[in-house]
Amino acid sequence: MSLRQILTFPNPVLRQKAEEVTEFNTDLNSFIADMVETMYDAPGIGLAAPQIGKSIRLIVVDISEEEDEHKSMVMVNPKITKQSGKQVDEEGCLSVLDLTASVKRSLEVTVSYQDAEGKPHELCTEDRFAIVLQHEIDHLDGILFLDHLSTLKRALYKKKVKKQQQAAAKKDAGITDDKK
Ligand code: NI
Repeated sequence: MSLRQILTFPNPVLRQKAEEVTEFNTDLNSFIADMVETMYDAPGIGLAAPQIGKSIRLIVVDISEEEDEHKSMVMVNPKITKQSGKQVDEEGCLSVLDLTASVKRSLEVTVSYQDAEGKPHELCTEDRFAIVLQHEIDHLDGILFLDHLSTLKRALYKKKVKKQQQAAAKKDAGITDDKK
């Protein structure tokens, strides 16, 4: 197992539509192990493969009941087949630094997926876990929680990131903004 680097906005890999997983082999299993390790190290409660640079339809989510017990679940090729109701809650993302915001999501979702061996399953859930699943499955379609915010909030965040990048580039070039 090894820790992987988590890509952050505006990395273009985060915007790609991820490919279906068709081969269930040892490579996939070791990749899943890396994802789980990376998620807990972050720490996070969910991670999608594109976030560590691999554009495939695979997510891992934390399903621990207690904080000290790490229990995760892997979902390959997850797809929301049914959704109903509405809920609004605060979200953040390991790939969207320094931002949390309220996002409107479905209250209940039914998700069909495959496990690490390729066996099909279906899961129906609600509340917080339904939010996590919607958030992570969005990543597989190149969608970030940012995209659910108002145009203004999104524009402000993009501007902030751009400024940070410009400041970092200046620093790299040895230019400082210090006024004397
Ligand atoms: Ni995320």
